[in-house]
Amino acid sequence: MINLGLGEPDFDTPAHIVETAYKAAKLGEPRYPPTDGIAALTLAIIDKFKRDDTPNFSPSEVIVGNGAKQVIFDAFMATLENTSEVLLCAPYFGQYKDMVSILGGRPIVIDCPPDNGFRLTHELLEAAITPHTRWLLLNLPSNPSGTSYDAQQLSELGDVVRRHPHVLVMSDEIYEDITFDNKKHVSFLSANPDLSGQVLIVNGLSKAYTMTGWRIGYGAGPAPLIKGMTKVQSQISSGACSVAQAAATAALNDPQNSVALFKSAFEESVIWLSKVSKGSMA
Ligand SMILES: Cc1ncc(COP(=O)(O)O)c(C=O)c1O
Repeated sequence: MINLGLGEPDFDTPAHIVETAYKAAKLGEPRYPPTDGIAALTLAIIDKFKRDDTPNFSPSEVIVGNGAKQVIFDAFMATLENTSEVLLCAPYFGQYKDMVSILGGRPIVIDCPPDNGFRLTHELLEAAITPHTRWLLLNLPSNPSGTSYDAQQLSELGDVVRRHPHVLVMSDEIYEDITFDNKKHVSFLSANPDLSGQVLIVNGLSKAYTMTGWRIGYGAGPAPLIKGMTKVQSQISSGACSVAQAAATAALNDPQNSVALFKSAFEESVIWLSKVSKGSMA
């Protein structure tokens, strides 16, 4: 039986990350942290984006939350009104729709055809946008379909977004490191750097660093949006756990060997699974 439920890597968090958390706890880090994230982690996130060839962010354009989920919720809560529509590309991570509905927004599902690899096309996007569209939600690569986009495909979507300045793009890139066959993840913003005023990148430590239980996610986008999200978060949970933030800082700043190791282990399982499924069909 293969469990296709929770997206939970089955490794332990790398020892050097745990060690950093331990040291932070002993140093007396457990005080209320700033709502939008401790300075060291904010800088580590900014550096990570620089390494990735994404436009530069300043500290006021970054927020740290209790997992990527909270960052997504913060953004919706800060921006959705009763008439607001959020475009979801089916198949999609189920919680997106529920979050929009809980907050009184209208999830609009775009059926992305399997014969195009479940990809959103610029024609489908153009047809779905209305004066009420608040967000287009992209998940790159996608859970559950694994669909990824190259720079050209993202730039075609960017052309549509550019024509509709009332539309914001939330690009959930939490699976960016889990790409196979030497495919390189392309961020929506690196394909469309001039759209930084309309884009929120969402990411987190859960998947790439096997830190699901540490609950650290982050968002980077326009400063006024981040300010609104910080206000929301300050009423709900305050800043994310300071010890976990120290651990996340080490994860992003230290050499990325463990990420490569996990990725190759995932790739081996995918190859194994495809052999098993071919065998069972023979
Ligand atoms: C597409 C996607 N986005 C966001 C999340 C939430 O991640 P986090 O653990 O950082 O809240 C998940 C978790 O499974 C996910 O699959």
